[in-house]
Amino acid sequence: MLVDALRRPVKDLRISVTDRCNFRCTYCMPLDEYEWIDKKEILTFEEIARLARLAVQLGVEKIRLTGGEPLVRHDLHLLIEKLAPLDGLKDLCLTTNGALLAERIDALTRAGLRRVNISIDTLDGEKFKRMTKRGDLNKVLEGIFAAKAAGLAPIKLNAVVERGVNDDDILPLVEFCRANDFAMRFIEYMDVGNSNNWTSAKLVSKKTIVEIIHARYPLREIGRDQGSAPSVDYEFVDGQGDIGVIASVTEPFCSSCTRARVTADGKIVTCLFSNVGHDVKAQMRGGASDAELADFIANIWRQRTDRYSAQRLEALNSSNYDPKRHRKIEMISLGG
Ligand SMILES: C[S@@+](CC[C@H](N)C(=O)[O-])C[C@H]1O[C@@H](n2cnc3c(N)ncnc32)[C@H](O)[C@@H]1O
Ligand code: SF4
Repeated sequence: MLVDALRRPVKDLRISVTDRCNFRCTYCMPLDEYEWIDKKEILTFEEIARLARLAVQLGVEKIRLTGGEPLVRHDLHLLIEKLAPLDGLKDLCLTTNGALLAERIDALTRAGLRRVNISIDTLDGEKFKRMTKRGDLNKVLEGIFAAKAAGLAPIKLNAVVERGVNDDDILPLVEFCRANDFAMRFIEYMDVGNSNNWTSAKLVSKKTIVEIIHARYPLREIGRDQGSAPSVDYEFVDGQGDIGVIASVTEPFCSSCTRARVTADGKIVTCLFSNVGHDVKAQMRGGASDAELADFIANIWRQRTDRYSAQRLEALNSSNYDPKRHRKIEMISLGG
């Protein structure tokens, strides 16, 4: 089995299919002007499918398509068609802001998509507009219900919680999910990228999120799916569904992290908070064989020592953390 320097296997691959996005979420990519990756540098679907096939041969079982906004690539279903039948792939998921989902759902499901995560940080239309700068909540709700009507399951909804901005949306979102059979995943606000002006004062911890929900709808902890999922899951004691919290800041899960990432321009990145990528596209476009590419990927993984979130927590605890000191790749390039 392929393991890294800290004995962690590679099990998940997150592929950013584009760095472009139709939203400008304040916590992710708030900038109107940004130096977007040149179109010819973006991986083609053939290149992505080749990488995915080799990654699955190396041990990857789950693939998530993300971005940027993956549905900004109009023909994404053609990629799903190539990935869904991969032998050995147990799970193929799409993470989307949902705005274009209703109009694409038929093509996506026909191509083999069975599961989707949709980001929605509030049910208040005005606030939604402020947080995403360009988003229309109604379009996203349409997308969510179109996914449900198409039979995708489970449908997970993601919300980043930002203190003073949408912490009062936690319970309404929980109630929306309980009423409609969606699984809510709250995400601690992370200092990803360099553009969101993260400070620890904006953070609402997992402990607080769980306390708020538990006080109204008692919860029982289930734990992490397969022991290594980012989310710690809880079921409602009354049996009406489950929620999860992704606590990358206050409860880092680096020791069980099995995730590799491919940026939209074909760099392999071994940590969400990394500032380096390994140029696998240059290898592919330079004519590397499958065996050479697999070796290239395996060698990167073998040398992996990342444990950024654990180090950040140590620094936060000793009041010695300055997010600006560490340049990171933007989340839109490497995929959340
Ligand atoms: C980068 S987005 C890409 C996919 C798609 N555009 C979407 O919004 O779902 C993937 C996930 O990252 C989350 N995310 C973005 N910035 C974040 C931050 N600063 N802290 C925590 N999660 C963040 C988003 O909420 C989303 O659930
Ligand atoms: S979170 Fe998703 S929708 Fe929002 S700016 Fe980032 S990539 Fe776009």
